[in-house]
Amino acid sequence: MRSHTTLLALALAARLALGQNTTTFVPSTNFGTWEGWGTSLAWWAKAFGNQAALADVFFTLNTVTFNGHTLPGLGLNIVRYNAGATSKNVDPDGDSIQLPSTMIPSREMDTFWLNWNNTDPTSTSWTWTVDANQRNMLTLAVARGAIAELFSNSPVWWMTYNLNPAGSTDGSSDNLESWNYDQHAIYLANIAARAKQSWGVTFASVEAFNEPSATYWVGPSGTQEGCHFDVSTMSTVIPLLRTELNSRGLTSTIVSSSDEETYDLATSTFNGLSSTAKSTIARVNVHGYQYGGGRRDTLYSTVHAAGKKIWNSEYGEGDATGAQLASNLILDFVWLHPTAWVYWQVLDVQGWGLIAADNDAVTTGAVAQKYFVLAQFTRHIRPGMTILNSGSAWTVAAYDSSAQKLVIVAVNTAAAQTLAFDLSAFSKPGTSGALVQRWATQIGSSGNQYVAFNDTFLSGSKFSTSFGQNVIMTFEVTGVAL
Ligand SMILES: *[C@@H]1O[C@H](CO)[C@@H](O)[C@H](O)[C@H]1NC(C)=O
Ligand SMILES: *[C@@H]1O[C@H](CO)[C@@H](O)[C@H](O)[C@H]1NC(C)=O
Ligand SMILES: *[C@@H]1O[C@H](CO)[C@@H](O)[C@H](O)[C@H]1NC(C)=O
Repeated sequence: MRSHTTLLALALAARLALGQNTTTFVPSTNFGTWEGWGTSLAWWAKAFGNQAALADVFFTLNTVTFNGHTLPGLGLNIVRYNAGATSKNVDPDGDSIQLPSTMIPSREMDTFWLNWNNTDPTSTSWTWTVDANQRNMLTLAVARGAIAELFSNSPVWWMTYNLNPAGSTDGSSDNLESWNYDQHAIYLANIAARAKQSWGVTFASVEAFNEPSATYWVGPSGTQEGCHFDVSTMSTVIPLLRTELNSRGLTSTIVSSSDEETYDLATSTFNGLSSTAKSTIARVNVHGYQYGGGRRDTLYSTVHAAGKKIWNSEYGEGDATGAQLASNLILDFVWLHPTAWVYWQVLDVQGWGLIAADNDAVTTGAVAQKYFVLAQFTRHIRPGMTILNSGSAWTVAAYDSSAQKLVIVAVNTAAAQTLAFDLSAFSKPGTSGALVQRWATQIGSSGNQYVAFNDTFLSGSKFSTSFGQNVIMTFEVTGVAL
């Protein structure tokens, strides 16, 4: 007797024999409106923020020449500005920053608030001339249409118990002094107010913490600014930040939280916040450092039930091929349903950087295949599109209702094969015979880099294309109605 499983396997084998490994879209389910793609500034912009060509590379869709490379602009429209924690002055008590020798110089971010003597941002306790390169890249990005988030890796050094912006002495305790909870909120609110008045930048959101539950990379011998916060401390600081923003007229700047390192930590932190703090934050930011692990689905259901959006506000790893990036990004689309996705440092050491760079030597190197892998997403899935249920684990689908355009991004990690896409569930699945434009990038160390082809056509409500192994493609089908 044949089992159902055997029958299913036979049916699948028959379909595959016809080259029909098919994705069938489910347009009746959507996961909200896409807000965009971004990067955090911080270290790379401190080093390279005076180079306008880089703003064109990352924040426009133009074809841009950089260092002899002709690049498709990534069209990022979200920029995260890092409120620095470091200054070298002595405060009125005679205290000065206790920077560890392990701190990497390019990761020391200038603070605007030099000492605790005065909260007035026009007083001599404040300076607004520092951090020129990061501010410059912020304004270049905003001039190109980006929306901005203000974030903090650590409170200013003098607000911390050990005067060390790399982390508390044991790494696992709060480092923000309890009498400085409001100072941290005032610091961020004053920067947001200053940006609006003087920089031409209205921050859309402010985030007071960065991986606050982390203990292993923050600490007295850290290499970068960082600070642990207990969940109960976050619950206190979040409403203070809301109040300080409001009192400066920044009522439409939302508070986001908590930028935890993993999906699972984000779920437990969100669940642990006080009801006041929960109702104060308008969005949950999470980082993607759990990669292929963790319960993205649990975080989504928890946050979605509370009526809030999710951003993957920081993702990065050292795989220059783009394989990890494509895999984890598609997992986010399938399970986490963020409405924005932010790469950590677009310029960074080889592997981490989309373009390899040395922030201390201020030199750039190769453009990674990873750059072009990300372009397959960012240049086509645009703000305002609706993210649809793609119907398969290797495919992402977005719909532009005004252009009646379906965007599909698909990855083939298996051996070379034909992948088919079935649009029959759309009320209008395009026009049979119509051109389906496609772009292809080889995941790896060489090969196609975002190459365009006009060789694929709808046949009825389907189309198919042969994919080599580890190829990512983007398709645009026009004349589609939900
Ligand atoms: C502290 O601020 C006050 C004004 O608020 C100023 O008169 C005083 O000189 C400042 N002290 C120091 C040590 O900066
Ligand atoms: C269809 O192709 C995808 C993408 O490579 C692969 O993950 C999946 O295993 C394939 N399915 C079958 C039944 O071969
Ligand atoms: C494909 O066709 C479109 C629409 O006619 C055109 O804009 C585009 O330049 C063509 N691309 C290639 C690679 O030929």
